[in-house]
Parts: sequence; structure tokens; C-alpha cells
Amino acid sequence: MSQNDQEGKAPVRGLQDVVAGETRVSYVDGVNGMLIYNGYDVRELAEHTTFDEVVYLSWYGQLPTRSELASFRARLVSEMRLPSQVISMIRLAPAGAHPMDVLRTAVSALSMFDPESGDMSPAANERKLVRLLAQVMTIIADMHRVRSNESVVSPDPGLDIGDNFLYMFRGRQPDEEEKKAFDQLLLLHLDHGFNASTFAARVTASTLADMHAALATAIGTLKGSLHGGANERVMEMLDEIDHVDMVDSYIQGMLDNGKRIMGFGHRVYRVEDPRARVLRHWSERLCHRAAMADLYAISHRIEQVVLAQKGIYPNVDFYSATVQHALGIPRQYFTTLFAASRTAGWLAHVMEQYADNRLIRPTSKYIGGWNRKVVPIAERG
Ligand code: CMC
Repeated sequence: MSQNDQEGKAPVRGLQDVVAGETRVSYVDGVNGMLIYNGYDVRELAEHTTFDEVVYLSWYGQLPTRSELASFRARLVSEMRLPSQVISMIRLAPAGAHPMDVLRTAVSALSMFDPESGDMSPAANERKLVRLLAQVMTIIADMHRVRSNESVVSPDPGLDIGDNFLYMFRGRQPDEEEKKAFDQLLLLHLDHGFNASTFAARVTASTLADMHAALATAIGTLKGSLHGGANERVMEMLDEIDHVDMVDSYIQGMLDNGKRIMGFGHRVYRVEDPRARVLRHWSERLCHRAAMADLYAISHRIEQVVLAQKGIYPNVDFYSATVQHALGIPRQYFTTLFAASRTAGWLAHVMEQYADNRLIRPTSKYIGGWNRKVVPIAERG
């Protein structure tokens, strides 16, 4: 490409509105505030189905029958074991290491112990879908237990994957309301079009790298505070606000200083994020139950003030923070839970990419100058 070829080519900043591929997994309707998973409205799925049913939908294109779900659940739970070397690696991580870094590293390590990691046949990839989702859940739960000096908890074959995760993480069975809230939290995070981490996973898959590589890529991408890392930042903001009366001046101060309010705004939604609406309900319910009503009141006031001041709405990360906090999940783990659910979506996209692959390789506008003459190092002073 020459200097002339570059004329008139303007890059689209942040690839906004660029249609970069096709997917059946999900559609984000930013104008009407809807999220569709494989043809179904996510709010309807949240009301009538469970996370594992929707995982099945994402991977196999249809909701399972009762018997299909039973065998799918059994398969997921049976794959929740980790190689002992990976548990040892988790134990070796420094106490201050962020759980997202440990998760990414553990997923990378799994590839070395999975005899099928390099087998790209559709049958092996299908087995890895199930195994990787199950193992990601266990990595997060075991990491928390090990780092809290508590013994790891084996999965209960009678529980589905979401309930098992909460049981293994906290060491006690969730009650019915906790189950419902947690399951919906997982379901709502499962997929979201060509978000940054999903796109990153598809780029990696498009080189025909294996599923472990694509998953590690996605986890690394989710960590940032403009993406999944926002939920942890929301909790840090809530820490700084002692009382609901402080909200207006706190938010005004942030905006006056050009700071972003974490958990607000979205590239695609111009109206309310449908996931935030469901999670607001659970935040209110669980905060009241956990004697944290003040926290919900502060959150709700933040929502009102940001909408009035900036005209922007909460995204999925805003109320996910208080839902997880009220469920007793430490904030450093918030983004790992996002990752656990999104693993199902990422892997669905990876399978789509493999099924109809062409290397994802865009071009760039070169701004590095032209016709510079090389001065040999001896003459550069
Ligand atoms: N707080 C204050 N102002 C904001 C915010 C916010 N959270 N989000 C957007 N804006 C303003 C921004 O300052 C800009 O204003 P102006 O035109 O006056 O300069 C305008 O809105 C457009 O912002 P943008 O950065 O061009 O929008 P974007 O589409 O590139 O950014 C975003 C999307 C999600 C990165 C952004 O809204 C943001 O930084 N939000 C906070 C972080 C966050 O909550 N991330 C989670 C995203 S959703 C779920 C997920 O992926 O995890």
C-alpha cells in the first residue's frame, strides 16, 4: 500500500457500528432496549428458563427437553473436576493476585493438561465446550476457598451448574431466592453480541487457535474497567458514599472532574439496558434481605442523578455489583462471575467462528510518516 492508497481512508474509532460478522447467539437492540438470545427475548428467558437451559440454547440452537436438560446437567457437573496441578497452581498464586489474572492463568494451564486441547474435530470441541464451562466455575470457586484458607467443596450432583457454583464458592446451599437471583444474574451475562471480549475470542479462533487460547484471550479482554471490570469499580464507588444524601454532590464532583461513572453508559444501548432492569429488582430484594437497604437506596439515587445530569442509564454492571455483594461474593470476584457466565457465550461464538471461518484481519490507517532515510547506528550519536 502506498501513500496514495491511504488518502481518504478514515478509521472508525472503536469500530462503532461496524458490522464485523454474523452470529445467531445474540442480538442487542440498542434502540428498543432489547437483548435477544437465539430468537428469544432475554427477559422472557430469565422468567421461564434457567442458566443451563440457555447455555444449551446457545450451543445447540434450541431449548432442551426435560431429558436433554437432565443429561446436559449431569455432563456439566461431571466435568467440574480440575487437574490437581491446576489446583496447585492456584495455590501458588500470590495472595494479592487479582482473581481475573488467576482465572486467565488457570485456563491457560488447563490447555496443557487437557488431552483434547489440540483436537479441533467438532466432536472434541463439543466435549470441550462442556468441560471448559464446568472447569471455569470450579476454578473460581476453588480459588476463593483456597485463598480463604477453607477446604474446597465438591459439586453436588443433585444441583444444576449455577447452584453448584454458589454452593462450592460459599460452602453452603443457596436458598430458593438466592438460587433464582444468582441464576438470573448468570443468564443475563451469558452473551451480548460482538462485545470486546467476544470479538477478541473470535479473532483468536479465526486463526484456528484452540478453544483454550480463545477463552484465555476473552478473559484477558473482559478484565478492563470499561468492560467487565466495571462491576468491581461500582462497589468501590459505593464505598465512598456513606449516605444517600451525599450522592448528588459526589456524582456532580465526578462529572465536573470529567470522570466516568462506572456501571453507566453503553456503546449500543440508547435506552435502558434490559439486563439492568432485572438486576435492579434483585438488588432491591437482596439488599433488603441482607440488611443493606442503604446500599440499594444509594445505588438508586445514583441512577436518578446520572440520568438527570448526563442522560445515561445503568448497564449490566451497575446493579450486578450490589446483587453479588448481597449474595456474599467478595468484590474481587465480581468480574470472574461475569466471566463464568460469558464463557458459555464466548465458546458459542468460537464454535460459530470455526464452523464458517475466515481469518479476521482488518487493516489500519498508517500514520507513521514516509520516506525517512535510515542512519546507521554508528552515525546516530
Ligand atoms: N460516565 C460519564 N460519562 C459517560 C459515561 C459514564 N459512565 N459513559 C459515557 N459517557 C459520556 C462520555 O464522557 C461522552 O461524553 P462527551 O460526548 O460529552 O465527551 C459520551 O458519553 C460518549 O462516550 P463514549 O466514550 O464515546 O462512549 P463509548 O460508546 O465509547 O463508551 C462505555 C461506552 C461503556 C465504555 C462508556 O459508557 C463507559 O466508559 N462506561 C463506564 C464503564 C462501564 O460501565 N463499562 C461497562 C460497559 S457495559 C457491560 C460490559 O461490557 O461489561
